[in-house]
Amino acid sequence: MDFKDQVKETADIAQVIGEVVRLKPMGPNRSIGLCPFHQEKSPSFHVHRDKQYFYCFGCHKGGDVFRFIMEIEGVSFYDALISLAERYGIPIPQRSTFGDAESRERDTQFAIQEAAFQFFRSSLNAESRNYLASRNVTEETIEFFGLGYAPQGGALTRKLQQMGFSAQQLLESGLVLKRDDGSLYDRFRHRLIFPIHNEQGKTIAFGGRAFGDDQPKYLNSSETRLYTKKRVLYNLHRAKETIRRQDFTILVEGYMDVIGLVQAGIHNVTASCGTALSEDHVRILKRHSDRVVVNFDPDNAGMNATERSIQILLEESMRVRVLNLPEGKDPDEYVAENGTDGYLQRIRNADTYFHWLAERARHKFDMHSGEGRMEGFRTLLKPALEKIPDKLERLAIVNDLSSYLGVDAKAILEQLTVTAASSPRKTVVPSLTDSESTLIRGLLSNPGELQGINTRLQQLSFWRGLKGNKILSAILTGNITMDQLDVRLDETDRRLLASVMFADKTDGEVSTEQLYACVERLEKEEHIQQIAAIRDEIRKLEREGKFAEAIEKQKLLPASGRSMR
Ligand code: UTP
Ligand code: MN
Repeated sequence: MDFKDQVKETADIAQVIGEVVRLKPMGPNRSIGLCPFHQEKSPSFHVHRDKQYFYCFGCHKGGDVFRFIMEIEGVSFYDALISLAERYGIPIPQRSTFGDAESRERDTQFAIQEAAFQFFRSSLNAESRNYLASRNVTEETIEFFGLGYAPQGGALTRKLQQMGFSAQQLLESGLVLKRDDGSLYDRFRHRLIFPIHNEQGKTIAFGGRAFGDDQPKYLNSSETRLYTKKRVLYNLHRAKETIRRQDFTILVEGYMDVIGLVQAGIHNVTASCGTALSEDHVRILKRHSDRVVVNFDPDNAGMNATERSIQILLEESMRVRVLNLPEGKDPDEYVAENGTDGYLQRIRNADTYFHWLAERARHKFDMHSGEGRMEGFRTLLKPALEKIPDKLERLAIVNDLSSYLGVDAKAILEQLTVTAASSPRKTVVPSLTDSESTLIRGLLSNPGELQGINTRLQQLSFWRGLKGNKILSAILTGNITMDQLDVRLDETDRRLLASVMFADKTDGEVSTEQLYACVERLEKEEHIQQIAAIRDEIRKLEREGKFAEAIEKQKLLPASGRSMR
């Protein structure tokens, strides 16, 4: 078995996908969830554990476990293969025989980030420790988050050069800059360092906080082939498990908020780092839960960011609540002063986004004048209202708002341009006959029977004109795994195949007995059809008065067939 097959056999596709998509079991081997590749409200994303295959009936993405990782992480086949092998502890063959230039460069970049991480951590000095202590961060938390210190000067650059990385590789790491004279120096100097990880928990970048009032207060690694700001959420690799279990995310603004909450034992917390919340961030969050509490700083910047984030979250149909802590407290300050329970109490009582927006309108506009009310409605509430796909829910909220704002409900409704709610995509199951479906599934579950069945099917003409003809032909030429079939079939047939594999409750399993019974039935049917055809001919000959020929034909009929006339 080659390396790829070995990895594939060991990896459990349901487990791998289950970490990014919430899957609901549909049978011992199948599960279903919301597709991570397109936006949908009802699940059309299927995973078949036994066949090592996934398929979405909404956007028609499908494939094996490698394909899934390639798509979801945007990595090459090689990277998907290596990450799975590492994860399942399968020894990786020599790289020289393996992998392309791009993957090797990524490996190099991961190595640089890891080296930098170790360097920053070991450079943590008294000043940083004192600062962290003054902000209630414990030794244990420092260790947990891998916090570090970037010293003045060019120590990191020198260290990385000593390790043998080239200037080009260092410049690509987002950690090293070039002076006009061509010499290299550290991006992070005299800053507290927060390592940033990808969803797999590998270090891919850093955030650095200045001490005192130095500017900018925070600096991040520049974007690299490992780090795309609009797709990375701080602490998500640690938070995701709790996010799923508790079925909501607490979204905060900054590193220190995440750290403060985690230290207080609240783990389902994340933040975008060094950039505003993006659509990609929201899609990534939604894979784990569609409920979120936005808890940004209760200052002007935080309010504006909350306003923008609500719209982006609604755009992706998230269920949004908003928490603004009293007395202008940031989450980390609040939890330090009021304890875990005090904070969680606030979280439980967080407002729906509508009340928050209405409240915001009241503060931003003069709600005593009709003009002010209309302006508040138009800029804050209307865009949000228009994003509610469910009509009844929209009406309920409009009613709620109209009394709150003192605006007539009918007037509000007239203002809305509601785009037709995207109806959930139906799982289209094209019709294959029962026999076709049984043959396809039966052959895939019983590859050992392929030869024998093939010989018998070749005698039959029934399947040549059928819808599943191309799939059957491909299987009969010996392509018996889903990924082999995947590359052989065009879009329509891949869809048909997936519908056969996922459409019923049998988990796509067909026993050897069922398979042979089906072939026998087909043989019988074909036989009956042949007899019927002969009879038709005989009748035709008789009508035409060609009795001798008719009698000759009679001999082709089996004894029972003749007596049946
Ligand atoms: P804040 O200014 O609220 O910082 O910015 P903070 O995280 O609460 O940190 P402390 O408590 O003052 O130490 C929130 C987030 O915005 C980004 C950072 O990701 C920060 O955590 N930010 C802020 C920047 O990227 N650059 C900046 O200059 C400031
Ligand atoms: Mn803050």
